[in-house]
This record gives sequence, structure tokens and C-alpha cells, in this order.
Amino acid sequence: MQTMFTLPTLVYFGRGVSRQLVPLLENQEAKRIFLVSDPGVRTAGLLDAPLNGLQEAGLQVRLFAEVLPNAPDFQVDAAAEQARDFGADAFVSIGGGSSMDTAKAANILLANPGPLRRYDGLNLVPKPGLPHIAIPTTAGTSSELTVAAVISDEKNKKKMVFFGRNVAASIALIDPELTYGLPPALTASTGMDALTHAMEAYISTAASPVTDALAPEAIALIAAGLPLAYRNGADTEARDKIMLGCQLAGCCFSNTGLGIVHSMAHPMGAHCHVPHGLANAICLAVGMRYSMSRVPGHKIRRMAEALGLKTENRGEEVLGPAICSTLKTLTETLRIPTIAQAGVTKDKIPVMAEDSLKELSTVTTPRQPTAGEVAALYRELFAHAGQ
Ligand SMILES: [Fe+2]
Repeated sequence: MQTMFTLPTLVYFGRGVSRQLVPLLENQEAKRIFLVSDPGVRTAGLLDAPLNGLQEAGLQVRLFAEVLPNAPDFQVDAAAEQARDFGADAFVSIGGGSSMDTAKAANILLANPGPLRRYDGLNLVPKPGLPHIAIPTTAGTSSELTVAAVISDEKNKKKMVFFGRNVAASIALIDPELTYGLPPALTASTGMDALTHAMEAYISTAASPVTDALAPEAIALIAAGLPLAYRNGADTEARDKIMLGCQLAGCCFSNTGLGIVHSMAHPMGAHCHVPHGLANAICLAVGMRYSMSRVPGHKIRRMAEALGLKTENRGEEVLGPAICSTLKTLTETLRIPTIAQAGVTKDKIPVMAEDSLKELSTVTTPRQPTAGEVAALYRELFAHAGQ
């Protein structure tokens, strides 16, 4: 068997590691920092310490703290233009997936000619950009360490996925302390995104022995921590567990790609502006059920164990459905809104189903769907919601 595993980002993990930002930038001899973030992170006060640290160290900072959910492409163009005008020599991104992906994509444009959409796909970015330090404030997308960036093509209502080593941030500072103030609903939706990454990576057609070793541990850590952190945001041990699980999940899916859950979730974001984590949380149980018939028995058993299910004297034909009902119960525990509450309307089902087939995640999903099957899954989500 021949396999490949890559993790081009240098990853620091642990409480307080975000305070390494300034020394690490100084090591890189960076002087003009383009800092990408979003209004929520700014309001939560998570930019105060880094900004003070950068200013005290005498570094020049240009702040771009206006990133919108689902990372629209026009903001990438604006960020790249401002970074170029400013003469930036390093990027810093602080926030969730949208902030980190906006910085990653703007960084592509600093080293490579536009338009951005020419790099949509696998290994299409020829040159690496500036040094980029990514600091996540959610335990969700793992964008800080993955080789992917997802940006909304607003005109064509589609998610572009830039995938390759030249997209990755150079350094990730994964500091669980930054997630301690995350409100319950965001804790839930971002955590479900991380759980989806772990599960889809485990059953991906591109899974390898390395990712197979990491993914079940990621599932176990996230599934155990999420209900606790949702119920009690001050449960720092649960928060740390989810963050570690998220790190492991990111190491996996950055190599394996994803599956039908993400293929269904991206069009929900592109057409109806459903936030990424929420879209995955809504689709996870039905997407896993759809895929289960193509998942090897030993993996079904291992996932069931990771979710804390009793597996003794139970066959895979029982454990598969048990996994799906556990996921459904988890979405109820976390009070994940229904597909309709999230703003999706039934008239969008045909176009979302067609678009889901074009998603990069569909390449590595274990059971190749038809548009009709995906449409049926969307309809089932409406039916679950009583609509
Ligand atoms: Fe995701």
C-alpha cells in the first residue's frame, strides 16, 4: 500500500499559545502585519491583546476586521488590495473559518495573478504567499492547519475550494482559551462541523492508516466534549477536548477530503447563506446514514465505540443505524435549528442538489450520489422538521 500525508503548517497547541504571536512574527522579521478578523471576534475583545502586543513591539498593523460569514469573494479581493497597498509582509488571521480562509485566499492573490476563481480546485496555486499565522477562535473548521480555503463565489452562487500546500497558513496557534467565551449556539454548530470532519475523513475513499489512527480519537474527543461545553461554557476541560479533537480532525480531512455532508452543506451556504457549521450539523445524521452502506464493518464498529455506544454482541447492521440516531439525538441536545429555521426554502432543493454533485467533497464520499438522491435527503430534512 502506498499513502501520502502532509501537514505543511507548523502547529502550536495549548492554553496560552496565542501569546507567541509577536515573538513568532519577530522571528520571521515581519514588520508590516495585515490582520484579518471579523466584527464578532472584535466585539468579543479577542483582538485587544494581540493588537496591544503588536503595537508594543513596534510592528505596523493594518486591520481588516470586517469579514462576513461564508467568506464572500469580494472581501478577498478587497483584503488583497489593501494588503498590497499597505506593503504587508505577513498575514495574521484571528477568528473562525471565514476570517482564516479570507486571509488564506487574499494571500494567494498576493503571490499569484487574479482572478481568484482560477485557483478553485486541487493543487492549482503555483506560488506560496507571505508568512501567515492563523489563530482560531472556534473549535470548528480547522482552517488554521488545513491546506484548504473555502470562499463564496457570490456571482455564481457557489463555494470555491482552494486545496493545496500553497494555500495553508505557515503557523497555527491553537489556543483553547480563545474558545472559552464562545456562546452555546456557536459552540454547538462549530463543534458539529469538527465532528463532521472527523467522521467524513474516517469514511473517505482517500483515508489512510495515518488518518484512520487519528479520526476515531477526534470523534471521541469532540462527541464527549460537545454536550458538556454546550451546557456549561465554563467547562474548560471539555473546551480543551473539543479543540484537540478539532486539531486531529483537521489533520485528517486536510489529507482525505470530505464527503456528502459537506457536499450538501456548501450549497446551503452558497444559496441560502446558512453558516457552514450549522449546515453541516443539520445534514450530518442523514448524510452518514446515506453513506453507511459503503462503510466497512470495522469502521462502523470503531465509530460506534468512539461515540460511546455499547458495541458488545451487536452487529454492524445494528451499529450503523445506532450511530445515525446518536447523531440525531446530539443535534437535538445541542438545539440545532431545522433546515427551514436556518433559512433554506424548498424551492432551492433542485439547484442545491445539482450543485452538491460538483463539490470537491463528492469525489471522496464513499457512496456516489445522484442529484435525485441528494434532493431526497434535503426533502427528508424538511420532513423531519414537520414541513
Ligand atoms: Fe467543514
